[in-house]
Amino acid sequence: MKRFLYYLFPVPIRLLVRRIYYLPADLYDSILGKRPQGVPPRGKIFIGPGDYVKLGEKFLRYFQELAGLKPHYKVLDVGCGIGRMALPLTGFINKDGSYEGFDIVKSGIDWCEKNIATRFPNFQFQYTGLYNQLYNTSDKVDAGNFVFPYLDSEFDFVFLTSVFTHMMPAEVENYINEIGRVMKPGATSLMSFFILNNESKDLMINRPTHMNFPINKGFYGLHSAQVDTANVAYDEEWIQEKLLKAGLKPDIIKYGQWCGRDSYFDYQDLLICSKV
Ligand SMILES: C[S@@+](CC[C@H](N)C(=O)[O-])C[C@H]1O[C@@H](n2cnc3c(N)ncnc32)[C@H](O)[C@@H]1O
Repeated sequence: MKRFLYYLFPVPIRLLVRRIYYLPADLYDSILGKRPQGVPPRGKIFIGPGDYVKLGEKFLRYFQELAGLKPHYKVLDVGCGIGRMALPLTGFINKDGSYEGFDIVKSGIDWCEKNIATRFPNFQFQYTGLYNQLYNTSDKVDAGNFVFPYLDSEFDFVFLTSVFTHMMPAEVENYINEIGRVMKPGATSLMSFFILNNESKDLMINRPTHMNFPINKGFYGLHSAQVDTANVAYDEEWIQEKLLKAGLKPDIIKYGQWCGRDSYFDYQDLLICSKV
């Protein structure tokens, strides 16, 4: 219900409501110096719930353990939001490595430029004004044709955390192709998805959680008729086909808890692939 009401507001109003709601707590933290350097005020964290610092640290471990991230790597964070993954990487990437992040929400990029890039010169952030029904309705540019602003074979590691879960099929397909283009041969990528397969579909019917995808669009499913991109799930076979077409070999899938699994790795499904 809370989510439904939240989605009724246009994007700028939603961001403003959040700022106002958290203002007292944010003022309290600022006055008492309780917010660690680089961590945004709660009212500015538009990327969803959960502990901003702990989630970032957890994913830094996943990047190393599942995708072999090393301190000297050139890293790309697609849909970097407000720096949740970038911040822990500042303590990991060394002077031979670098970080690039881009996102379609200007306030997130502004925060990262001011609070991260100024302190870590090998960290760069770019605002890319693309349309998304949940995050940016002021720009009308289609992410389905977007060419990443990077050279071919530039990166050792590319990741997307909770980004393909908010994008439409033509956009996901284009991004997978672009990821394949900018990865070096042998480079790895970690992407999170809600993956539809027999197990997750059965669980959604027999043991539904709050995260289900009742709107069946064939090879993908939508959580809400109200906002297309609020949560999108994709068929495992469709994802694998698009990856292979882009020269990416799926190496590991760690299935998540979202559909009510008893045994799971994280909340969303994590897919690790490598460029052949
Ligand atoms: C749930 S947030 C996750 C942010 C970040 N990856 C993290 O884990 O903290 C989803 C992000 O995807 C971004 N996004 C949505 N569509 C995008 C697109 N076409 N290109 C780049 N970023 C996009 C949103 O602006 C938002 O920052």
